[in-house]
Amino acid sequence: MVKRIPVALATALLAVCALQPVAAQPSRARATADVDLSARLKEVQANPALEENLFKLGRKVAAVCVHCHGDGGNSLNPDIPNLAGQNPAYLLEQLRLFATGQRRNEFMEGMIKSMNSDEKVGMVLFYSAQTVNHKPSTTPALADKGKVVYQKQCLACHGANGLGNEQIARIAGQQPGYLRKMLDRYRTAQSGPLAKSIMTPTMRSMSDADIQAVVAFVTAMP
Ligand code: HEC
Ligand code: HEC
Repeated sequence: MVKRIPVALATALLAVCALQPVAAQPSRARATADVDLSARLKEVQANPALEENLFKLGRKVAAVCVHCHGDGGNSLNPDIPNLAGQNPAYLLEQLRLFATGQRRNEFMEGMIKSMNSDEKVGMVLFYSAQTVNHKPSTTPALADKGKVVYQKQCLACHGANGLGNEQIARIAGQQPGYLRKMLDRYRTAQSGPLAKSIMTPTMRSMSDADIQAVVAFVTAMP
């Protein structure tokens, strides 16, 4: 999908992100890279009026992201992740990794660089509050096999419902192509954050068949 996006559209999207006064005025002063986003999120969540403002700002930011991540963060492309319902801390951490180049995706890195810190916090407030569209399994037999793998290899961290927690990603209902890609990245990671993740030792021992089955199960989790 990303490769198929015409250069002009990508440029236009970036321009929209950089130029549009999506940014509410007061936040420009906070647009420095060294703002502690987690601290800012906590500060905002403790102030309902500010939280509401940044939620609205986040919804405006999402108008740019909709081209790939779908309406309300429910992606229509199996290779592009849903952002809906994702845990706030996990989203913030991904933004930090894209911004510091520890997570590589040319387009996302450009997007993130053009967002100020309140746009990032607003985006997180908006997406984490959206509901994931449930897609029942189209391959129930495979999903049943995946359930066994899930219970043995994933449940201890991601939880019975795949919702994760403050530190751990929500995976329930995530897009299948994206899940496959991420699991394979963890399995083969040689350096960087994925190689150091607590999840990597589990992934190292998984076969392609295990991955295929667990993806069929996880993508259909409500
Ligand atoms: C041109 C398509 C495109 C657009 C537009 C786009 N993204 Fe993405 N985004 C992607 C792709 C593809 C990935 C997966 C990257 C990878 O494979 O690591 C991604 C990943 C992410 C992730 C990590 C999700 C996870 O589960 O780890 C976040 C967060 C994110 N994008 C936020 C945004 C925000 C916020 C915007 C709008 C300001 C946006 N994206 C716009 C294509 C896009
Ligand atoms: C020891 C704990 C642990 C286990 C076991 C584990 N995970 Fe994870 N997983 C994590 C953590 C923590 C993250 C967040 C990023 C990071 O720190 O690597 C994560 C991230 C992910 C992501 C990336 C989410 C995204 O949106 O980018 C996927 C997909 C995932 N896990 C799927 C699985 C599956 C499927 C299994 C079982 C086969 C599994 N995990 C087992 C802890 C675990």
